[in-house]
Amino acid sequence: MPLRSIKQALLDLRDERRLDRVKMVDLTNCTFDGHIYDVRRVMEECLAIKPDLVFLWDEAWFGFAHWSPFLRPRTAMGAAADIERWLLEPESIKAFEKQQSDLGGKPSRQALLDTRLIPDPRKVRLRVYQTNSTHKSMSAIRQGSMVLVKDVDFGAVESQFHEAVFTHASTSPNQQIIASLDVARRQMELEGYGLVWNAIQIALDIRREIAGHPLISKYFSILGADKMVPAEYRQSGFVDFLAPGSDWADAVRSMRQDEFCLDPTRMTLVCGTAAFDGSQFKALLANEYGIQVNKTSRNSVLLQSNINNTRSDVAQLIRVLLEISKSLDKQLGNGAAARDEFAGRVKALMVDVPDLPNFSRFHDHYRGNAGEKTPEGDMRTAFYGAYDADQCEYVPLVGDEIDRRLKDGAEMVSANFVIPYPPGFPILVPGQVVTVETVDFMRKLDVREIHGYDAARGLKLIRLHRQAAPTARPVEHAAA
Ligand SMILES: Cc1ncc(COP(=O)(O)O)c(C=O)c1O
Repeated sequence: MPLRSIKQALLDLRDERRLDRVKMVDLTNCTFDGHIYDVRRVMEECLAIKPDLVFLWDEAWFGFAHWSPFLRPRTAMGAAADIERWLLEPESIKAFEKQQSDLGGKPSRQALLDTRLIPDPRKVRLRVYQTNSTHKSMSAIRQGSMVLVKDVDFGAVESQFHEAVFTHASTSPNQQIIASLDVARRQMELEGYGLVWNAIQIALDIRREIAGHPLISKYFSILGADKMVPAEYRQSGFVDFLAPGSDWADAVRSMRQDEFCLDPTRMTLVCGTAAFDGSQFKALLANEYGIQVNKTSRNSVLLQSNINNTRSDVAQLIRVLLEISKSLDKQLGNGAAARDEFAGRVKALMVDVPDLPNFSRFHDHYRGNAGEKTPEGDMRTAFYGAYDADQCEYVPLVGDEIDRRLKDGAEMVSANFVIPYPPGFPILVPGQVVTVETVDFMRKLDVREIHGYDAARGLKLIRLHRQAAPTARPVEHAAA
């Protein structure tokens, strides 16, 4: 989510005098695939628009980053510590005031979007939360995770915070998990920097070996930063860890300057060019070679190096990729028919990729007190509305009925979260209008797992004409 879009939404809400309704910004850092925000910049610019915003950074996959001096400033707690220091410096107020006078009394929308906004240090309430799945990248047992808090107002919310944890977690004794968290913490305190540097080194070695091997590189590649992060978000001009002439100083510059940088430990290995789809390749690596991948996409698998990896793991992975490459070479030596089939499959996986549809919109029924400019909706009412079976219906994904209704019928409204895996995030949420783009995408998907979609019955919809109106808006909002 580019910062510009976040600022745009906040400014739209401010123009509509509804900024008071925004309580928190919730972002995933870093993503599965390794996109890391410029966390400090995001928080500073948002705080310049609303100084009491709360930030929740889902850093499930990024707990280890604390132990890299390069990655730490791009974690929520690392950035919050930097902002806290900045807030105490006398120069900060001067910088804020200078920017205010440069911007003038009524800065244009364009100026606000183009400027790196400085918050008013006297107004900022620094309220930052970071979640880490310690078990994902360190030595904790499953479910061992942490919420890190840096909130000047924590005293006022602490009891609600604990209540929320108890609502969502087991209340039974769980000392085994706590003990493993303690072990993980101790291990990282004592050895963390070396272990994380090792994980980064291993990832660079894997990248180098794959790119440099004449046979493996015929079929497989690891996507560079240039393929993972569009150029407009790589202001430093960083191309990749292995780009000719590039060294670690370039990577560090990217980590300091770029709106999004790439975590070196995530390696998106393209397997579509070897005619494997992601799920197929994942199964092959797991079943035949004992290698676990992190996640799949249609034409790639995601490898992640960890604090426990060794040079032997690199050697094992390269040996396996070489073995698979050799067998592909042999298969393609079997004549033109085999080569045509291979080329057709590669094209289907690499070129004929269905476009991921953008979020369409919430049905008006769920937009009760929303404004004109921002797309928010009341997902909760739609979600619980779908608990009433009489209010729901199913429409098969393929067939005349859905085409007819898309063309001339009343808008169809999703009752569920529909989440194909891969990619693993919703293409429909409760209350969202189903569009031609969504249906096209689902028809082209060839994945087996689609959460929230029952292939035998079809898409689950809410029958709006039979639903009561959503609950009345709260008085304070009505007044606003
Ligand atoms: C982005 C993200 N956040 C949160 C979680 C949940 O983490 P946990 O199982 O530690 O609660 C996951 C799990 O895969 C995740 O990918």
